[in-house]
Amino acid sequence: MPATITIRNNGSIKVDGEFTILDQDGNPFDLGGRTTISLCRCGQSSNKPFCDGSHKTCGFESMIVHPRGTPRNRS
Ligand code: FES
Repeated sequence: MPATITIRNNGSIKVDGEFTILDQDGNPFDLGGRTTISLCRCGQSSNKPFCDGSHKTCGFESMIVHPRGTPRNRS
């Protein structure tokens, strides 16, 4: 199953499916067989690149809505 990436409002980036996460030198992170992970988007995680829930207490706000999902574009 190809990976699906979901941007969570005021939170992390959820990655679901078959994927590999590499650092900039091409070294893979050990995901322990997990097929769903959350990547930090707020910059406050102590376990980057993974989310550790810090976004809930650091005041991170970011709403990402596809243009077709906004009320003004609905008919
Ligand atoms: S998005 Fe969750 S800790 Fe940054």
